[in-house]
Amino acid sequence: MLPRDPLIGYPDLPDDERVARVQAFEALMRTRRTVRDFAPTPVPRAVIESAIRTAASAPNGANKQPWSFVAVSDPVLKRRIREAAEAEERAFYGGRAPQAWLDALAPIGTDAEKPFLEVAPWLIAVFGVAHGVTPDGGVDKHYYVQESVGIAVGMLLCTLHAASLATLTHTPSPMNFLRDALGRPERERAFVLIVTGHPAVDATVPRLTKKPLEDVAAFIEAG
Ligand SMILES: Cc1cc2nc3c(=O)[nH]c(=O)nc-3n(C[C@H](O)[C@H](O)[C@H](O)COP(=O)(O)O)c2cc1C
Repeated sequence: MLPRDPLIGYPDLPDDERVARVQAFEALMRTRRTVRDFAPTPVPRAVIESAIRTAASAPNGANKQPWSFVAVSDPVLKRRIREAAEAEERAFYGGRAPQAWLDALAPIGTDAEKPFLEVAPWLIAVFGVAHGVTPDGGVDKHYYVQESVGIAVGMLLCTLHAASLATLTHTPSPMNFLRDALGRPERERAFVLIVTGHPAVDATVPRLTKKPLEDVAAFIEAG
């Protein structure tokens, strides 16, 4: 058993203040969009470091923290990632993807061209780590890797949005090339590639709607 600490960070708020805070956060998060047009404006590494620290504080299975984040701003490596991603995406759009998947993507207007992989100042590759390594070289089992990494990526996206940076959740299909391109060990599996930076001044996004609360939530209350 670990030693125990008092809980900090939960001030007792009046409920109207609680509602005001949650609605302010909702308003902020509802302006988040997936952006595919970036400006080349640099973003300080300190911003990316802090965002990754926030993501890496996420809840996770048995606190094994089964993730790694590789932040790339090197233009040579970004170009290599773009070339590899576009090769996969050309195969995907050119026949590997089932027609139903292509039909679902058509309104969003994506294609195999990924210029943002070179234009955006930062690419953050997120890996799920299947297991750790014990000091004697054994396997340290990880639990709920997918769920844990998914929550961490959600926190990463929220944090970057709070810093007024645009994000694109990119999943070139398949993504195995990222492990080799970034020199990661076999036990790591690419989960997602987060592209981030300033949006282009003339960036546009598809006019999407989100399902209303009653379509996605149910409330079962006393009485
Ligand atoms: C797991 C996941 C994978 C995605 N992969 C891609 C992708 O490879 N390329 C892309 O342009 N958008 C990708 N997206 C972005 C979605 O298309 C986008 O989130 C969706 O259309 C909703 O738009 P919004 O994020 O602006 O609300 C992905 C999103 C998620 C959550």
